[in-house]
Amino acid sequence: MIIAIDGPAGAGKSTISKLVASKLNFQYIDTGAMYRGVTLKFLRLNIQPDRVSEKITELQTEIQMDGERIFLDGEDVSQEIRSIEINQAVSAYSAIPAVRLFLVELQRAMAVDQNILVDGRDIGTYVFPKAELKIFLTANVEVRAKRRFLEMQEKGESVSFEEIVSNIESRDRIDSQREMAPLKKADDAIEIDTSAMNIAEVVNRILSLYEMKQREGLNR
Ligand code: DC
Repeated sequence: MIIAIDGPAGAGKSTISKLVASKLNFQYIDTGAMYRGVTLKFLRLNIQPDRVSEKITELQTEIQMDGERIFLDGEDVSQEIRSIEINQAVSAYSAIPAVRLFLVELQRAMAVDQNILVDGRDIGTYVFPKAELKIFLTANVEVRAKRRFLEMQEKGESVSFEEIVSNIESRDRIDSQREMAPLKKADDAIEIDTSAMNIAEVVNRILSLYEMKQREGLNR
């Protein structure tokens, strides 16, 4: 079974996804981490988005996902991909079709023979259009920015609230306006606005939707 959780930056996807996946004993795949990993690699190679070739031959990198951790050629970069530099650059690299095709192939390969919960922007619309349960998580920009701000403060990163709002708005714009597989709610996704909900409420809502789907499947 595949559960797809999509939505804009800061809607709470990864926090919620990790909890739901662990409750259901599903493998969690954080596709945002994969786009962040590729971005880190291009920044290290000093290759600007407009210099990435169609076959992305520059990117001779093995990407491995292990739960919440991501490895580039064996190096654990799970912390480094959460930096402000990556936040600012990731949407531009994610809009490149060759980058997306490369990562979507990896994501589809991970789904073989296991129950997975995948979070991202295009999971229900493009990567797994047949996912059994599709959720679209949203929240208003202030709430999303506040969550990211607290997260950054906890990590000791010095960034202003205004900077975060502007980064979130610019990522939303690029992610939803790009040509290939833009951020969009799938027609059959269930939208949950988390602005006024706490984590446990969102997790419970998704678990009850999952149970409903299971019952529907049994009655078919
Ligand atoms: O979920 P996140 O904030 O870690 O994602 C980082 C960026 O990666 C996001 O701004 C756009 C890109 N992304 C994407 O284009 N498609 C996905 N399925 C997941 C993330």
